[in-house]
Formats: sequence, C-alpha cells, structure tokens
Amino acid sequence: MSIETLLCPADQAGVARAAALLRQGEIIALPTETVYGIAADARNGSAVKKIFAAKGRPQDNPLIVHIDDVGMLPGLVSEFPERARLLAAAFWPGPLTIIMPRGPEVADECCAGLDTVGIRMPSHPVVRQVIEASGCAFAAPSANRSGRPSPTTAQDVWADMQGRLPLILDGGPCAVGVESTVVSVVGAKPTLFRPGHITLEDLERALGEEVELSPAILEKLAEGEVARSPGMKYKHYAPRADITILEGTFEQFKAYVEAHAAQDPACLCFAGEGAKLAPFPCVEYGREGDGDDQARHIFRSLRALDEQGDRVVYARCPRKDGVSMAVYNRLIRAAAFRVVAL
Ligand code: TXA
Ligand code: MG
Repeated sequence: MSIETLLCPADQAGVARAAALLRQGEIIALPTETVYGIAADARNGSAVKKIFAAKGRPQDNPLIVHIDDVGMLPGLVSEFPERARLLAAAFWPGPLTIIMPRGPEVADECCAGLDTVGIRMPSHPVVRQVIEASGCAFAAPSANRSGRPSPTTAQDVWADMQGRLPLILDGGPCAVGVESTVVSVVGAKPTLFRPGHITLEDLERALGEEVELSPAILEKLAEGEVARSPGMKYKHYAPRADITILEGTFEQFKAYVEAHAAQDPACLCFAGEGAKLAPFPCVEYGREGDGDDQARHIFRSLRALDEQGDRVVYARCPRKDGVSMAVYNRLIRAAAFRVVAL
C-alpha cells in the first residue's frame, strides 16, 4: 500500500486541508508541543483503524484523545473526577494526559478493550487550530513507525510515514521533545504511567497528595507482570544501533569506552563531551543535568545514531528525577533495559 504524501507548512491553508481530511475519516500528521502525532477522528472507528495500520501498532495499545476545550469532554468521558479537574486547571493546555473513565462516544478502536480513556489538551497552536477547524476530538499517537523513536521534526515523520498517509503538516521542531506525562485518576490513588515534562512533583503539588509511580517507569517489568499502561511494556523508541547505558561519571564512561575500543563503538553523550571522546564518533543529546534540554534532543539524537550507521553505542546516563525521569524512561527502552553501573 502506498499513497501520495503531501508535506506542507502548517499555515492557514495547511490547517484547512488537515481539518477537511479529518472530517472525511482520513489520518494526517501534525506537530504538537511534545512530539509529532498522527490524528484521526476519535469517534470514527474506521478512521482510527487507519492509524494502527500506518504505524504497524499493536492493537492492544490504546490511543490518547486530544481536545481543545473541556466543553468537549461530555461523551468522551463518563465522569470528570475532582482530581482530573485539579490537574486540568493546573496544566491544561499542556503536555499532560489524564486517564479517566471512558464515555460512550469514543470509538472502541481507541481504547484497546479498556474502560478508560486518556485525554489531553495540547497547547501547540497548530493542533488547537486543527481541532477547532475540524470540530473533531482526535486520537493521536506519536507519528513514528511502531517501535521507532518518536518524531520531533516533520522530516522525521516523513522518513517513517511517507506513502502511508496523505498529509504531514510541518510546524518546525517540537519544544518539549518527549511525549506527554500520562497520569491516571481512576482507582484509589493517582498513578503516574509515563513521565514527561510535567513531573511527579508538579502533579503532587497540584493534587496535594502523593502520586504513585508505576513500576514500569524506571525498570523492566518482570516476566508475566501486567502493564496497567500497555505502551510501557514494549521495547520502544529504539534505533537500529545496540545501545548500552553506562551509569557513572564522565571519566568512568570514557575509560569504559576506551577499554571496549575493539567493538568500534559510538557514544551518545552530553553537550560538549563529544570532543573529549575523540576518536569515537559521538552524538550529543543535551546538557548534563538539564532534563528539559535532554528531552528536547533525545529522539532526534537516537535517529542521528542510525543515520551514522548500525553499531554498538554507549550512552551517558541521565538523572532519574524531575524532567530527567522522562529522558531516562525513554532511553532505557531504546537500550532494551541494558544498564551497566560503573
Ligand atoms: O505527547 C503525546 O502524548 C503524544 C502527542 C502526539 O500528543 N502522543 C502519544 O501517544 O505519545 P502514544 O500513543 O504514542 O502514547 C500513548 C501512551 C501509551 O503508552 C499508552 O499505553 C498510554 O498512553 N495510554 C493511552 N490510553 C491509556 C489508558 N486508557 N490507560 C492506560 N494507558 C493509556
Ligand atoms: Mg508513541
């Protein structure tokens, strides 16, 4: 299956074209403040199915529904719980997805058999314009082929999706760079399912209570353990290179890489470190200790490793708290959970 893909600027004409396609039950790619997404009308099951086909996504991984106003919630959720109201007031529009009890109008194809639905109100002006012009709440996963790093530029969407959907809107690079924080308010305690730009501490401050950390965030689930958020169980975000994360200081990292020079390794390191690691080829992914900067660069850097060719890659380890938790969470999946403590 190959269809003609148009890559066009996210201007007024582009937004109008995207909205018309969505209303016709088509899928399109567009920028958000987190990563690029592939959108389909969340109430139209056959449109949503096209997303799974285009991405090669497993059917048991549910999609996030995007809105531009809380007035769109009736029908999408069966209840707007008090905790969700607090979080929405604090962080919407913005990079936060709230898991709530599912309403009757969401297509079954979005929910993968769950009785909950993830809702997000993005802040990016292009998504908001497309929602407004189409009148559609839309389901939108990240616009990568399933298993690949999420795309943060229209060119990266093109590399994965060209021939698989009719339109990609180019709105420039994404400001946040990692996908939204996913938090569930269904169940006894609020639970963080996926870390992002909005941190655990941000959520706890807004809610005035403790938020549980889903065990799948910082380590591999044990064999047979059930992921409450299906997306967290897959090897993910992975370049073709074999990545191993080395946890330690820069000096320890450099010594380890030098000791393994026979493997002809490349390095995924922090800004400014590349020159000090010569002659090994390096890709930098943001300043050490600066989670926001690392988040903005991590997915592009994973793709850059592939563009340099398949190889053994050693990666510097980000911190595990604040926004860095989101970077660590993506990187351990890209590394298939291979972490070596130095
Ligand atoms: O920033 C984002 O959220 C981006 C942009 C495009 O908005 N979208 C995105 O979607 O990252 P996706 O499909 O790549 O990731 C959705 C994540 C998955 O880990 C999925 O398992 C989880 O959210 N999820 C969705 N609905 C869920 C539900 N009802 N219960 C638990 N987890 C859910
Ligand atoms: Mg994704």
